[in-house]
Amino acid sequence: MGDRIAGKVCVVTGAGSGIGRATAVRLAEEGGRVLCTDLNGDTAAETSELVRAAGGVASARAVDVSDPRAVDAMIAEAVERYGRLDVLVNNAGVNIPGVLHEVTDEVIDRTLAVNVKGQIYGCRAAIPHMLAVGGGSIINISSVNGIVSEPYLAVYSASKGASVMLTKGVALDYAKRGIRCNAVCPGWVDTPINYAHAEMLGGLAHVYETIDSFQPIGRPGEPREIANVVLFLASDETSFMTGSVVTVDGGMTSQ
Ligand SMILES: NC(=O)c1ccc[n+]([C@@H]2O[C@H](COP(=O)([O-])OP(=O)(O)OC[C@H]3O[C@@H](n4cnc5c(N)ncnc54)[C@H](O)[C@@H]3O)[C@@H](O)[C@H]2O)c1
Repeated sequence: MGDRIAGKVCVVTGAGSGIGRATAVRLAEEGGRVLCTDLNGDTAAETSELVRAAGGVASARAVDVSDPRAVDAMIAEAVERYGRLDVLVNNAGVNIPGVLHEVTDEVIDRTLAVNVKGQIYGCRAAIPHMLAVGGGSIINISSVNGIVSEPYLAVYSASKGASVMLTKGVALDYAKRGIRCNAVCPGWVDTPINYAHAEMLGGLAHVYETIDSFQPIGRPGEPREIANVVLFLASDETSFMTGSVVTVDGGMTSQ
């Protein structure tokens, strides 16, 4: 156990899988007290069990980030349980790929409700509690698709571009009041969110065989490699960083 964020109270959305789970574990390894939340309450509970089994402090809650009242209640629970709020990781997301002229209303609404409104609701709910303790750190998980797009990802890319601009807006509005807000833009990381997109590109095995063609490092990222950067942004080590858009992408956007 380290102490890079000792005592900080953290909320992670989408903590039941992939990047969110790795982030909850990593924050707790460095002394954070973590409320792990996910649409799937069982997987959120598994994550908090993982943390506790390793000697960390965590609890879990089922939360749909597209429901503003559920997001308010999530933040209220963190403050009630741990006494304050220091870090919010807006990580929950969906990626439903498709050819744009065939995309349904439901897919558009779901994508924007989770990926965009969910992050807005999270910031709105967290900020008063961060102001109350003199500051905090918000990390929005965007994507390389907030900067560049890829085939079949027009709607997802629109949502992740919005996440980048939400980050800059929050950073500006609260820069003098101690709240930092940064975006993390992962490249292709090995998690289930990509499976539907991989199918459209010829299957996951094919994507990984040819990953060199779009991700110069030549392999998918691991969730922990993203979590390490989130931890850095959550910590006071990044006290001069706000409004930054941090690519963690094996060189993808360098091309
Ligand atoms: N894996 C990648 O290659 C990659 C790349 C760039 C960005 N991202 C982003 O990283 C974030 C995490 O994705 P991941 O790769 O860990 O995928 P994942 O599928 O492993 O995890 C996503 C989690 O979000 C949860 N979720 C979905 N809808 C939700 C909702 N309405 N409320 C609460 N939780 C909800 C899911 O239940 C799941 O546990 C997402 O925002 C995603 O867009 C992932």
